[in-house]
Amino acid sequence: MKSIALQLERIGGFVSKDAVTAYAPALQQYNAALHDKTGRGADFLGWVNLPSSITDAELTDYENTAKALRRKDIEFFVVIGIGGSYLGAKAVIDALSDSFAQLKPFYNTPRVLFAGQNLSEDYLAELRDLLCDREYAMAVISKSGTTTEPAIAFRLLKRDLEEKYGKDEAQSRIIAITDAKRGALRKLADTEGYKTYVISDDIGGRYSVLTPVGLLAIAVAGLDIRALVKGAVDMEQASDKNVPYEKNLPMQYAAVRNVLYHSGKIIEILVNYNPKLHYFAEWWKQLYGESEGKEGKGIFPASVDNTSDLHSMGQYIQEGERRLFETVISISAPAHNLRIPADSDNLDGLNFLAGKRVNAVNRMAELGTALAHVDGGVPNLRIEIPELNAYYLGQLIYFFEKACGLSGYTLGVNPFDQPGVEAYKKNMFALLDKPGYEEASKAIKLLINK
Ligand code: PA5
Repeated sequence: MKSIALQLERIGGFVSKDAVTAYAPALQQYNAALHDKTGRGADFLGWVNLPSSITDAELTDYENTAKALRRKDIEFFVVIGIGGSYLGAKAVIDALSDSFAQLKPFYNTPRVLFAGQNLSEDYLAELRDLLCDREYAMAVISKSGTTTEPAIAFRLLKRDLEEKYGKDEAQSRIIAITDAKRGALRKLADTEGYKTYVISDDIGGRYSVLTPVGLLAIAVAGLDIRALVKGAVDMEQASDKNVPYEKNLPMQYAAVRNVLYHSGKIIEILVNYNPKLHYFAEWWKQLYGESEGKEGKGIFPASVDNTSDLHSMGQYIQEGERRLFETVISISAPAHNLRIPADSDNLDGLNFLAGKRVNAVNRMAELGTALAHVDGGVPNLRIEIPELNAYYLGQLIYFFEKACGLSGYTLGVNPFDQPGVEAYKKNMFALLDKPGYEEASKAIKLLINK
């Protein structure tokens, strides 16, 4: 198979090859622990063999649901969810869609919109305003079924949908993706008779993009879920527990990250040179931030979209705190071919670029930046993907998931829990006088009125 490539030539001045390969034996064990389900968080390892266990019938089901929605002439498919119940679908849809798809004439492929990923009254009010005289349907996604942000958005949009279409038609336009048995959303879906998909107990939100959580919305957007899954299957096999370190890309990435971390490089910036990958970086930040940031440890995941951010964050990366390293996702071949025209007046002085592809300039910007950053003390890792399509994105998703599990084990944390995210919820509920939070309400009010 043609594969994404991990290039480590520009870390040499910062860490030794020996220090990196010293991690290989431990990583081989951690990889076996992931596959054999013997490590920390073993109850949440359903994602490890997920790609190869997805059946043709499941994919056909998502595709048929997408087709049925198209038959209803739906212009908007609203996906309601937050965190892992949102970012994977958003990342893949943005990466694989025309940059201006939302502004182009509508040709029967629903445009996917997102809600429930914030608590902004403006966002929700403006979304409702947009939807009120358009055809739409929605999926509400929550594994726990109790998350406040999507629950509020769903309460509002469900009422709108029922008022617009009547209860029966509204019911046929709502899909719930949640736990098989537990949670408020499961109860609601069963009571209302919604079509449902189940999120397996052993797959955490941030590892769920290849479950119905991500695949349904991606299929509705008209994208090739089979190629996406095939890419993930190929990377699952290429990083299997029997594949040695020398050929195992996630193991190599995990090793390098940990060596850099222990050398003081505590911030990793995921860099792209194609804005379609903006939300892929958001997905990656959740994956790594929520998996590794605990027990006072963890690389802080950040991201930039270049070359845009070279004109804003570029200064800091070049000369600010020297605790950064960067991982560039570079796409070898763009989908288009656009050459810079000659100009007889040459007032902008750009005729030296006439006839060159815009991508040639982008590549030199990438190379020039990498060299400057290395010179400025920022190690540079590079992931090259042959082209930005569903297949390579599937590889990349599984590559990062596997490397995240391995990196978390190397760091000595459980990469599959997220105890820290409860802290804000507890305070928010106490401040909002949620029943059951009486004691916490009293305590927090005393604190803020001091
Ligand atoms: O990765 C995670 O587990 C979280 O980001 C969750 O996906 C997020 O908090 C949403 O949770 P839920 O799907 O239960 O509503």
